[in-house]
Amino acid sequence: MKKSSPVSRSGRFAGGPAADVAAFSESVSFDKRLWWHDILGSLAHAAMLCKIGVLTTAELKAIARGLDAIGGKIKSGKFKWKPELEDVHMNIEAELTRRVPAGAKLHTGRSRNDQIALDVRLWLTDEIAQLHHEIRALQKALVQLGADNAAVLIPGYTHLQRAQPVFFAHHLLAYVEMLKRDDGRLLDCYTRTNVCPLGSGALAGSTLPLDREFVAHTLNFVDHKGRPRVSQNSMDAVSDRDFAVEFCAAGALLAVHLSRLAEDVILWASAEFNFIKIADAYTTGSSLMPQKKNPDVAELTRGKSGRVIGNLVALLTLLKGLPMTYNRDLQEDKERLFDTADTVRACVRLMAAMLANTKVNAAACARAAGDPTLLATDLADYLVKKGMPFRQAHHAVGAVVAFAEKSGRPLDQVTVAEFRAVSPKFGPDVKNVFNLAQAMQRRALTGAPGAREVKRQLAQWTKKLK
Ligand code: ARG
Repeated sequence: MKKSSPVSRSGRFAGGPAADVAAFSESVSFDKRLWWHDILGSLAHAAMLCKIGVLTTAELKAIARGLDAIGGKIKSGKFKWKPELEDVHMNIEAELTRRVPAGAKLHTGRSRNDQIALDVRLWLTDEIAQLHHEIRALQKALVQLGADNAAVLIPGYTHLQRAQPVFFAHHLLAYVEMLKRDDGRLLDCYTRTNVCPLGSGALAGSTLPLDREFVAHTLNFVDHKGRPRVSQNSMDAVSDRDFAVEFCAAGALLAVHLSRLAEDVILWASAEFNFIKIADAYTTGSSLMPQKKNPDVAELTRGKSGRVIGNLVALLTLLKGLPMTYNRDLQEDKERLFDTADTVRACVRLMAAMLANTKVNAAACARAAGDPTLLATDLADYLVKKGMPFRQAHHAVGAVVAFAEKSGRPLDQVTVAEFRAVSPKFGPDVKNVFNLAQAMQRRALTGAPGAREVKRQLAQWTKKLK
């Protein structure tokens, strides 16, 4: 049997848990990363206890000094984490109490149930703020790559078949838009995470006159007007992990978006497409085939989306059917949450770095975008402008495409006479349809890949991301 812990297993227990139970139930190996937020929470709680007269000013000062010293030790890697003390909370509190007698008063009106809810919320709001900056950096990298290659056209694809010409920048800006929504979802999650649960106790608050608003204020759990935001139901506050689910859901969708970008990059870097060249530092070689240059950053980003989706499913499954209120099951939320945060941040960062070190092969793009069949829809629009109903126009152009294919010529090599044989609505000006530059001018709608519109969007995003 382990020696009993000095902080929590007091009167009720004759001894500590069996060694295998302790090893099974400890969480300090992973929740120690919450140490900074745990100390912040304790400082705010102590300040509040002093305000309501539970701690003297001298005791508060001693506790603050003690926590500060412990923080310093943890930061320098010298703090000895003890798994037998179970979690980050008890490790820090035990050390504090060893140093400062008043440490024994710190847990007044507090339970590890509201303490862990607090720590995770504090940690996650910081995490979201940092992820927000990394998402912006990725958006910047996408916009920059687009702006550096503003004149480059590529085929746009549906069903991975060549469809219609688009600016390469337009394709990249599609991801900038997705990332904007991801960022918005994370911000939304931030709002609901930014609520202070401290004062909820184990599940039923406290009989002591805790000043919850003071704590919330001290820890910056405030709304846009600076008003404290405190949870409104103690039972909900200790059992709620919605904010973690929301983060993992937003993270999963972000990861899915990144996996699609990664897949495009992988295709573009293949010899078959050859649209881009990723710098050597962001690729790896093969241990067997000397010629290989593999887009591993993109492949891993694509692959890692799997675990991030898994984390979301794991969290939802963890919460499903849990009775009120706190249950130890909830300890299992942290590794999934941490893994999602670490994984998406790494993917966002690495994809940005990789894109910043990627060159576009303009000649290969021009060759692909020069495929005249990409303008078949423009031909149909041409007939529509001549008064033909679209369905008929679609049919007529289909006939011309089939004819060109049969006669072994590209679509733009079909003669005016041959066009007119299919429909007299075709005039000599039909040849102008194949002028790609003009074709891109014609796409003037908001959100379309037209020359002016893409230029406008690039300028707008460049300004927005400054
Ligand atoms: N390590 C625990 C967790 O992560 C902290 C709360 C423990 N509470 C308790 N009553 N055992 O959920």
